[in-house]
Amino acid sequence: MCGIVGYVGKKQATDFLLEGLRRLEYRGYDSAGMATRTGDGDFDLARAVGRIDALAAQLATFPAAGTLGIGHTRWATHGVPSEANAHPHIGGNGVVALAHNGVIENYQKLKQKLQAEGYQFRSSTDTEAVAHLVASSLEELEARREDFPADEPYAILLAAVTKTLSQLRGTYGLVMLFRDYPGVIVAARLGSPLVVGVGKGEHFIASDASPLAGHTEKIVYLADHQIAVVTADSLQIEQRDQGRIEHAVQDLAIESTDVQLGGSPHYMLKESHEQPESITAAMRGRLSDEDASAVFGGLNLTPQDLRRVNRIILTACGTSWHAALVGEYLIEELARIPVEVEYASELRYRNPPLEQGTLLFAITQSGETADTLAALREMKRKGHPALSICNVVGSTIAQEANGGIYLHAGPEIGVASTKAYTSQVTTLAMLGLYFGRMRHMSYEAGRRVITQLRKVPDLVRQTLETSGDIRRIAAKYAHASTFLYLGRQYNFPTALEGALKLKEISYIHAEGYPAAEMKHGPIALVDEETPSVFIMPQGPVFDKVMSNLEEIKARGGPVIAITAEGDKETARLADDVIYVPQVEEFLSPLVNIIPLQLLSYHIALLRGCDVDKPRNLAKSVTVE
Ligand code: G6P
Repeated sequence: MCGIVGYVGKKQATDFLLEGLRRLEYRGYDSAGMATRTGDGDFDLARAVGRIDALAAQLATFPAAGTLGIGHTRWATHGVPSEANAHPHIGGNGVVALAHNGVIENYQKLKQKLQAEGYQFRSSTDTEAVAHLVASSLEELEARREDFPADEPYAILLAAVTKTLSQLRGTYGLVMLFRDYPGVIVAARLGSPLVVGVGKGEHFIASDASPLAGHTEKIVYLADHQIAVVTADSLQIEQRDQGRIEHAVQDLAIESTDVQLGGSPHYMLKESHEQPESITAAMRGRLSDEDASAVFGGLNLTPQDLRRVNRIILTACGTSWHAALVGEYLIEELARIPVEVEYASELRYRNPPLEQGTLLFAITQSGETADTLAALREMKRKGHPALSICNVVGSTIAQEANGGIYLHAGPEIGVASTKAYTSQVTTLAMLGLYFGRMRHMSYEAGRRVITQLRKVPDLVRQTLETSGDIRRIAAKYAHASTFLYLGRQYNFPTALEGALKLKEISYIHAEGYPAAEMKHGPIALVDEETPSVFIMPQGPVFDKVMSNLEEIKARGGPVIAITAEGDKETARLADDVIYVPQVEEFLSPLVNIIPLQLLSYHIALLRGCDVDKPRNLAKSVTVE
């Protein structure tokens, strides 16, 4: 939530800052701002309500000059989206310009104290208290200049920031510019990610790696309790209680084409169409014909440890939670290990009784979701191995987990998750195979699973070709105000995810239900204006789902059915049918979700919604 950028170098800062903010806009987009430091120590400040375009328009009239600057795109927590609440905030009398991600829980107390000292507050944010606190600490320490070594130009600055941070309760990714310290940005992190891109004679700061692509190939991931002092030519990192530390410079794994639309009208459409490749990438190097099993290099557990696992908890939020639900079916069927799926926001406080042998997987696209991180920490604290299934390399959850699996899906920018979901489900299928082969699953059965898995990318590619039919169906139902999504077994989670996709981007009320459970309430919603989307792959429950479909038709409800090619029966009853390729039931969620992603996309477009940046949402939810 919220995006941060910073630049210090020899070029005009605004170029990188604006482009970077556009790449981070998916993290929050109700207002944006930037501050540059001019040669004489003033800040050129630009802030605007709305999208980055509004900020760009303001900058076109009032340009911001300077070769160092910071920028921010906001998802409001404290205070409405307004120019005054947009970051950066100015501390003291123009002493510091500061942008912040995260939440400062004790800001009210700090604010009262600072107000009593004479600091004027101009916003209702928690962040402004931090800006004034930095200014106040700086002024105090500068009065004792003789206490600091004269040959360390940033010693006072570091001490002032450290003093400020020690008074904060909550989470932060912070970047700061200073009136009296030309050429330096200070960044600090606790619970809200920050990275530094290392260039030649320049450094880039951002809240995730995507703005760096195309500017540098070297990245440093800041960890919690670190402060970075960044100039054009130097990067110094201090760790709380340790002082200056050596930092690892890593290769940036993404390229600029990964974060560009490349001719597609929307990221969601682009990412939906990337699924054959992203699923392939999730499987690359991870299927072993020789062992008839899966191979995971980063679990950091011995086969003996894994053999002792007798219960798995999958925890996640949002779409990743739906992937976990499919994972429950997959792992229980393939490996016969009991699986529990928990919302991370519940697990973190639930304190369930857990025996030894319980293994946790935190499933997350971003690796930054606050609740998922808290659940992972809680399980680690209890001494259970806690692994991650994560897309973003170097993210907090990937770093804090005892081990894990990267999805390698490439950056996902559309707020509504598509390719990360199918990569998560693919990974969970491979995990089912892996654990299954450690237990009862025969070599032949393992080989069969591998053969089926390898077919998936092509089946998904064929399914994507139904886009034209889906656009036509979307036009027929785009006016509806409620949708039901119904499926059973493996495709109950598909129904939930289909409903979530529609809700997120078209703002139509949609409910996902197990098809049979629909009789216990939701059937009351059914009328001529309420479409039901049935997911009905061939398999043991096909006939049962067909009966549920009849029940809806008997009450005059329109039905859209997703069914396998060759099925003649469904078309007799359903108003509209979308045919998808035949696939083994255990992998059918990977195919059946495709038309549902496209249906929600086309309906949202027809309703004039902003598909990639739906109202009120953010891609990465870093607050509780
Ligand atoms: C937000 C996003 C969802 C996402 C969820 C979990 O709500 O809008 O698309 O599924 O967070 O995110 P994660 O990064 O942990 O998968």
